[in-house]
Amino acid sequence: MKTTEVTDGVWRLSANIHDILFEAMWPIPHGFSMNSYIVKGEKVAIIDGVCDWDGVPETLFDQFDQMNVKPEEIDYVIINHMEPDHSGWLKDFKKIRSDFTIVTTKKAKELLEAFFQIDNNIQIVASGDTLDLGDGRVLAFEEIPNVHWPETMATFDTKSGTLFPCDAFGSFGAISDDAPFDDSVSEEDLAFFEHEATRYYANIVGAYSAPAKKAVIKTESLPVKIIAPGHGLVWRKDPQRIIDDYKRYAAYSKGPAKEEITVIWGSMYGNTEQGVEPVVEAIKGEGVKVNVHRVPDTHYSYILRDVWNSSGVVVAMPTYEYKMFSPMAVALDEFGRKKAFNRRAFRFGSYGWSGGAQKELDEIIAKYKMGWEFLEPVEFKGAPSEADIETIRRRGAELAVAVKAWVSAEA
Ligand code: FEO
Repeated sequence: MKTTEVTDGVWRLSANIHDILFEAMWPIPHGFSMNSYIVKGEKVAIIDGVCDWDGVPETLFDQFDQMNVKPEEIDYVIINHMEPDHSGWLKDFKKIRSDFTIVTTKKAKELLEAFFQIDNNIQIVASGDTLDLGDGRVLAFEEIPNVHWPETMATFDTKSGTLFPCDAFGSFGAISDDAPFDDSVSEEDLAFFEHEATRYYANIVGAYSAPAKKAVIKTESLPVKIIAPGHGLVWRKDPQRIIDDYKRYAAYSKGPAKEEITVIWGSMYGNTEQGVEPVVEAIKGEGVKVNVHRVPDTHYSYILRDVWNSSGVVVAMPTYEYKMFSPMAVALDEFGRKKAFNRRAFRFGSYGWSGGAQKELDEIIAKYKMGWEFLEPVEFKGAPSEADIETIRRRGAELAVAVKAWVSAEA
């Protein structure tokens, strides 16, 4: 990969990753980028880093060479966030240079020792602290805890107006060397990255939507001209676009989200499945967009993204061994962990000798205090009757009407 100049005195270094599950659980079919930044005054700082997977630190070091920056010229390593996708390279960097100063938060210091056995040359900073690199370049620090771990901070280059917020304002999706900026990609590509940003947000940041909202407020109090995140595009033409996106994503946690309904279904022998098309058609008939996913066929990463964007959810699953069809329980549990709260919802499904799915559904909703408001469920023994299908259809339409009313009331 090549280095790219973000603005005068600021360069982006990056490595793209493919063919893994991010955090060992989230599919990344389009890859993702890990961005680091070199900031030069009279002294040189590197902000954020990369993971330590095979070849990745070397990709970063190769970019030092491209810039004619020698490791020994890097005075400060600024760690905004300790998750190893940004800090893992440290042990490789220590092999080629051992006497750099790490600038980070008090909380991160604990993790530096725990992950990398580093306990010296650490300069602790807190909100409001600054670091003068010389030549008029002063870095200011702002803690943004829990975006995405408790120790996280953002770094702001007061000279260029560049904000380095690490995970905040990031997205999935590998970045081309030739087009790493919002001003160097097409509108179609921007829409792609925003789409990937929604899934990234729901999967990685969603559970921390309250802190994310505070981080957005802090960002808006700074004279930000460029947003240079740890993952994804650098926003220098229209940083407000990704700020506004993140405002919306954070607000979706408590709802309403978009005027959309996500239908999630699982069926063992085709009985619950008989209600899926009628409910989808009924929702569409009310003019509301529907996303349809079958479990376990679709990874819950994608379902979570659509639930995050939707104000309404239909869950259709049978009872299985006196409880819920297991893949649906896994998906719902994840929605609870990620705080997809306050949806309008409807559930239907089949049972054989006994029910049990509804009880487990109620337990999950209560356990995570999800606040989903359900219409009366439709449960049927074996196959659904014509009357059951008619009721499912009617409930789908009622749900769509409720979603439209809710979204327009909050608009
Ligand atoms: Fe990109 Fe929370 O690490």
